[in-house]
Amino acid sequence: MKHVDSAAHTRGESIYLDDIPLIRGSLFGAVFGSPLAHGIVRRLDVSGAEQSPGVVRVFTFQDVTGQNQIGGIVPDEPLFAEGSVHFCGMPMAFVVAVSETAARHAVGKIIVEIEPLPVITDPRVAQSEGELIVPPRTFRLGDVDGVMAECEHIIEGRTDTNGQEHLYIETQGAYAVPLENQTIRIYSSTQAPTAVQRAVSKVTGLAMHALDIEVTRLGGGFGGKEDQANGWAALCALACLHLKKPVKYAMPRTDDMVMTGKRHPYSADFTIGLDANLKILGYAVTFYQNAGAAADLSPAVLERTLFHCTNSYFIPNVRATAYSCRTNLPPNTAFRGFGGPQGMFVIEAAIAKAAEILGVPAALIQKRNLQKTGDVFPYGQLAVSEAEACWQKAEELYDIEALRRGVEEFNSANKLFKKGLAMMPVCFGISFTKTLMNQARAQVHVYTDGSVSVSTGAVEMGQGVNTKIIQVVCAVFSIDPALVKVQATRTFSVANTSPSAASATADLNGKAVLIACTAIMGRLKEVAATEPGGQEMGWKQLVMAAFLRRVSLSEHAHYATPDIHFDAGKEKGHPFAYHVYGTAIVVATLDCLRGRYTLDAVKVVHDSGVSMNPTIDRGQIEGGIVQGIGWMTMEEVVYDEMGRLRSNTLSTYKVPDIYSVPSEISIDFLHTELDNLAIFRSKAVGEPPLMYGIGAYFALRNAILAFNPSGIIPFNAPLTPEKALMGLYSNKPKHVVG
Ligand code: MTE
Ligand code: HPA
Ligand code: MOS
Repeated sequence: MKHVDSAAHTRGESIYLDDIPLIRGSLFGAVFGSPLAHGIVRRLDVSGAEQSPGVVRVFTFQDVTGQNQIGGIVPDEPLFAEGSVHFCGMPMAFVVAVSETAARHAVGKIIVEIEPLPVITDPRVAQSEGELIVPPRTFRLGDVDGVMAECEHIIEGRTDTNGQEHLYIETQGAYAVPLENQTIRIYSSTQAPTAVQRAVSKVTGLAMHALDIEVTRLGGGFGGKEDQANGWAALCALACLHLKKPVKYAMPRTDDMVMTGKRHPYSADFTIGLDANLKILGYAVTFYQNAGAAADLSPAVLERTLFHCTNSYFIPNVRATAYSCRTNLPPNTAFRGFGGPQGMFVIEAAIAKAAEILGVPAALIQKRNLQKTGDVFPYGQLAVSEAEACWQKAEELYDIEALRRGVEEFNSANKLFKKGLAMMPVCFGISFTKTLMNQARAQVHVYTDGSVSVSTGAVEMGQGVNTKIIQVVCAVFSIDPALVKVQATRTFSVANTSPSAASATADLNGKAVLIACTAIMGRLKEVAATEPGGQEMGWKQLVMAAFLRRVSLSEHAHYATPDIHFDAGKEKGHPFAYHVYGTAIVVATLDCLRGRYTLDAVKVVHDSGVSMNPTIDRGQIEGGIVQGIGWMTMEEVVYDEMGRLRSNTLSTYKVPDIYSVPSEISIDFLHTELDNLAIFRSKAVGEPPLMYGIGAYFALRNAILAFNPSGIIPFNAPLTPEKALMGLYSNKPKHVVG
């Protein structure tokens, strides 16, 4: 089935926050953000803004009717700066005016005096000064220190991966509309309507039942709207409550880039120990996560880094420690992969470094250490592994030997262009790592004309979850998709929802829909069995017959993932419903004179279980790959030492465009007959493919080494053309070219 939104998207008719028709009298907000990354606020003078034409009112922390606090996991994030500022762009005031232009103009009239304090942007510095968001965590398996003595080869190193701007096409925003009796409806561009509801409830002091959060769809979220849509909604709601007028704030792109957090940059130290047969016996790793100025989702992201620190490999002795470090950057947040990619990059770097030192192909070490079914993860769960199946199928299907020969022949025939090839296996756990979040609800109504209305907590953000939900309904009722409508996501319809995140949205909400539909179908079958002529009735007739007999045509169902648990005290358990596996082969061509590159091919075997919608899954895989390549090779988030974002526009921040897409993306699904907890056994697909993009870094690295075998290339991503060029000519006399 095609993506349900495809026709309306193509015609430009789909509704996003900015397309909602405005109510007369609506007002518009603009945020004044701190110009300094750290300091004590000595003066905040908004009088100039208040007198600016069109301004209705300027809000600061003093206007908060509830608590000035939007921290989700840790209450460490004020909505408005109060006394001190902790990052550039931290909201200090919210100007509300009759037009967007008037509001933005007035922001320029606000005067602040801030006494500067030292600015930390480096997580290692923060860690050394004890600036931690939460206490460090360590996952342990076996005895790393003991086993290192037995290792033939011990290799150490350091890695750094940079952040990534979400760059959803639709920026963050909210539109708060007053209803009667202190009730507010908020249209929000959020992945987490309930998180918005909770945050607004806390800030305004209104009960959750007075806050109807509604989301039709997002123009992309990618994790950036899992937690960070809350603040903007709270600002609009607060203004709405005070002024009793609708208030809208849709962020200008630069505000969004400056004020919101991104993927967490990480720095890491590793030690990897191998025996003479290239078996990895031990792996010790320390992660320094750059959390930014407040916790946001950092503790959860940190946890997933630890969960994925051994990627697809079985390593019998592991010690992984992770520090969440407080710096003076905007609070970093969820981004596709949620810390997993950062963890995987380090083990892949460790293997690559070992391979380079030992003079063997990295693929040999990778393949020899792939995890098998029954192997234990460092966190105690036993693997049901498709790692070898994906790897082997990729090798055979894409004729890896021929690809390798092709690269070698090209490299011996060409001096100034070199190709590099890398394999990238991926293993990603599906479930929110916080067990309690793995629950969902659905409300299904069958109307007397046979049409069906479905509400869930799922938010459509392009990933196709609404289409999958329709497929579930159609499978149970045996009806045409045209009869089914997925309604906007609303907290008044479905309560206490988890964010649409962790790739688990279709699993969780789809299963709740399955339960609801199955219950209704059970009642309809009873009607069919007992009504004269019931067995011959079509869908609409049957529905009407049930209605006439006063049988309920509605159901509200609840699903909670079974069998999962985790003990954070012991750092052991069974946190994931299942794992998604895959292997990518990445081939790159590097222009060794300029450092520019193209990606020839990304060839993937992806474990989908049994895909319920191969077209949508293929789209997710292609998009994930390109986004991963962007993170690894071109997207460079730059903060200066004062904590100011220098890459704050699209002219200074390079995201993949159509020209960056690999010339070939081949995707093959590994079909497995094994049972799993996915909806219709169709495994989650949203995040895992991003990590195939990590292969692009290593393919480029291999191309650099083909040109300059003694090149020095720090494990520092993104490997931009500039850094590639430095690697190409590092450690080399200048006359070498030609
Ligand atoms: N695909 C599109 N088109 N837009 C998005 O914002 N977000 C990704 C992924 N794919 C995203 C996307 C992220 S971060 C996640 S967690 C999943 O989709 C969420 O949706 P799912 O749980 O339905 O896979
Ligand atoms: N993944 C994505 N989002 C989350 C998670 C997770 O594991 N936990 C909390 N939010
Ligand atoms: Mo995705 S990072 O779990 O929103």
